[in-house]
Amino acid sequence: MGRLKNKVAIVTGAARGIGRAVMKRYAAEGAIVFAADVVKDELMFEVNLLTQQGFLVTAVPTNLAIEDEVQTLAEQALSQGKVDVLCNVAGLIEEKLLEDTTNEIWNRILNVNLRAPFLLCRAVAPAMKAARSGSIINVSSRAGSEGFATETAYCASKFGLEGLSRALSKELEPFNIAVNTLTPGAPTHTAMSEVTYSEEMRKIWKEPKEIASAFVHLALQTPQGIHDHYVNAWDLSEQLRKEGWEQ
Ligand SMILES: NC(=O)c1ccc[n+]([C@@H]2O[C@H](COP(=O)([O-])OP(=O)(O)OC[C@H]3O[C@@H](n4cnc5c(N)ncnc54)[C@H](O)[C@@H]3O)[C@@H](O)[C@H]2O)c1
Repeated sequence: MGRLKNKVAIVTGAARGIGRAVMKRYAAEGAIVFAADVVKDELMFEVNLLTQQGFLVTAVPTNLAIEDEVQTLAEQALSQGKVDVLCNVAGLIEEKLLEDTTNEIWNRILNVNLRAPFLLCRAVAPAMKAARSGSIINVSSRAGSEGFATETAYCASKFGLEGLSRALSKELEPFNIAVNTLTPGAPTHTAMSEVTYSEEMRKIWKEPKEIASAFVHLALQTPQGIHDHYVNAWDLSEQLRKEGWEQ
């Protein structure tokens, strides 16, 4: 513990699932966390539990589909004078045939899964560049490297996030900023996977906290370490468990 002491981190999707596990783990590691989610009551509940234990977490209710709210989130974190870690976890999926994918569904998925990470990267990059330090973690998916039927909008958003991240890795490398994408690597039991995973996949479900170590490790990277990678969070967390990292 204490690996992220004094580091300022933004975590999106922090009310539920993987984002909540990352928020808790970052807080336990000593980070100053700005936790964002659209489900305000759940976010406040989770953050209150942490602040009551003395952890340094601020809830920032944010609809990531709305540009002004994304900007406010970035500004709140930047008021600390720096942002060390940007962790874009929030995401959503709607399984639809192409002809049933309305413009509204397409825009909602692309805005949350791809535009919001772009807006947040753009907002924090100048401070990271000035500090010549930082780590950006964009949560992708297997759907960022292969196609799945009924997931055109979701796959497009995750392939887009891969493209954004690959390009940004090259752009930020000279400034000592690590940029990676992360796929959970194992079916992870969350509200999203309750809807999307088959009975077979449910038999091998992992809990979000079991992959949280990977997010801590990535938060500490520089371009000399893990950088410009599509990281398998389960494999990395297993490796870290063997090295004695606690869960
Ligand atoms: N669970 C898995 O096995 C799995 C597999 C592949 C990829 N992922 C990715 O992991 C990430 C986290 O997903 P999860 O499984 O924890 O799902 P989840 O549904 O439990 O969590 C997603 C979070 O994003 C938030 N969110 C959704 N729309 C938002 C908006 N407009 N503004 C702000 N927050 C919003 C939700 O409220 C929720 O808290 C996603 O990017 C997802 O694509 C998950």
